Amino acid sequence: MNTRTLSTQIYQNILSGNADSRFDAISDPQERAFAKKLIFTALRKQTFLKKVIGRYSSKQLPPKLSIEQIALILGATEILYLHTPQYAVVSSYVDIAKKLGNKYAGGFVNAVLRKICQDADTIRQASNVPFFSKNFRRILQPDYTAKQIAAIEKYAALEPPLDLTIKSEPAHWAEILGGKLMPNNSVRLYSAGAVSQLSGYQEGAWWVQDFASSLAVTALGNIKGKNVLDLCAAPGGKTAQLINAGATVTAVDISAPRLQTLKENLARLKFKAKNIICSDAINYLQNNNENFDIIILDAPCSASGTLRRHPEIVHTKTPEDVVQSVKLQQQMLSATASHLKKGGILLYSVCSLSKNEGERQVANFIDANPEFKIVPITSAVLFNSNILPEIITPEGFIRCLPSILGTEGGMDGFFIAVLQKE
Ligand SMILES: C[S@@+](CC[C@H](N)C(=O)[O-])C[C@H]1O[C@@H](n2cnc3c(N)ncnc32)[C@H](O)[C@@H]1O
Repeated sequence: MNTRTLSTQIYQNILSGNADSRFDAISDPQERAFAKKLIFTALRKQTFLKKVIGRYSSKQLPPKLSIEQIALILGATEILYLHTPQYAVVSSYVDIAKKLGNKYAGGFVNAVLRKICQDADTIRQASNVPFFSKNFRRILQPDYTAKQIAAIEKYAALEPPLDLTIKSEPAHWAEILGGKLMPNNSVRLYSAGAVSQLSGYQEGAWWVQDFASSLAVTALGNIKGKNVLDLCAAPGGKTAQLINAGATVTAVDISAPRLQTLKENLARLKFKAKNIICSDAINYLQNNNENFDIIILDAPCSASGTLRRHPEIVHTKTPEDVVQSVKLQQQMLSATASHLKKGGILLYSVCSLSKNEGERQVANFIDANPEFKIVPITSAVLFNSNILPEIITPEGFIRCLPSILGTEGGMDGFFIAVLQKE
């Protein structure tokens, strides 16, 4: 099967929430790189392209795309943004639509792609937005102003840089890798290529971790010698930070394949966790009597904050997904409460933009568990100086948005709270 046909099927799988099937079917590295470029560009342009296509056909494309509609989106993406010769694109996607779609599919794709070819320059000049689907916008509307949503949409639609957390000597590695040293000593690369080919990968000098995500462990301050339970730990970005900071770590995650990645990451970094346990977090807590100095709950969530690297999220997530995540997070948070020593610290984080999963989740937890109080996070703890004050909320939480540092590559949407058990 050729790369365009495989890409059409992969795209359908991604929209169905089947992320595991990503790109494994394409073995040739160049072809795989092309498929990734095509699919990620199309996911970032899909909402806009649906509007364009709607103008050329008698009816609007539905929220759930059929296979020939996906072929059309990919064909339009190649013509408009990847600059593939037009004749090759039209005939390829007409063939794919005929093969995979219904009997009218070839004619429909042919007619619309030819019109797009004619008007390509005008369409290209139109702005990037909308990136968000209606459902995704509904997730943000209760929590952010129209201006904030527009800024998030603008910067989240851009391809993100690659952030690395450095084991030691960040300035040295910034120079070797040609990257930018960030306020928390992450190194930001604007054009990276294959991660495993970068200097320092084999020797385990750094690991991939978004700037925003790396702030969670940094917010804990000095944790040398602390006994830490890292819940929902895989693939281990925070586990690595904890070990690097001198903590003793028990890492728990429900997913065996993701824990395998965590183990491989720790081995490459020459780090050792005290325990690595494959278990549901609540089951683990219910069947274990140990009390910890620190518990990290980097909870499963709607992942709406990771939309720069996972643009399919804007097409697949709905407010109902947030409701489901909130319930699970609430149960997990309650289960942690009895496993902290007196004076122990609970760090709660989510890569979600929804305040129901972040700010309100923590407020409700404190209402139900008054023995916990907020330890306000400060720029001084994070960066040793008063930079990026806009990521700290009045309550003393961290609230990162993709629009913050937008012109410098932005950051994931992320929420972090540090609580202490009195
Ligand atoms: C946001 S990711 C964690 C990222 C990780 N802490 C890091 O810094 O690399 C959430 C993790 O929660 C795990 N998870 C989901 N449901 C779980 C459950 N019921 N118990 C334990 N882990 C769970 C997932 O497998 C996933 O690895």
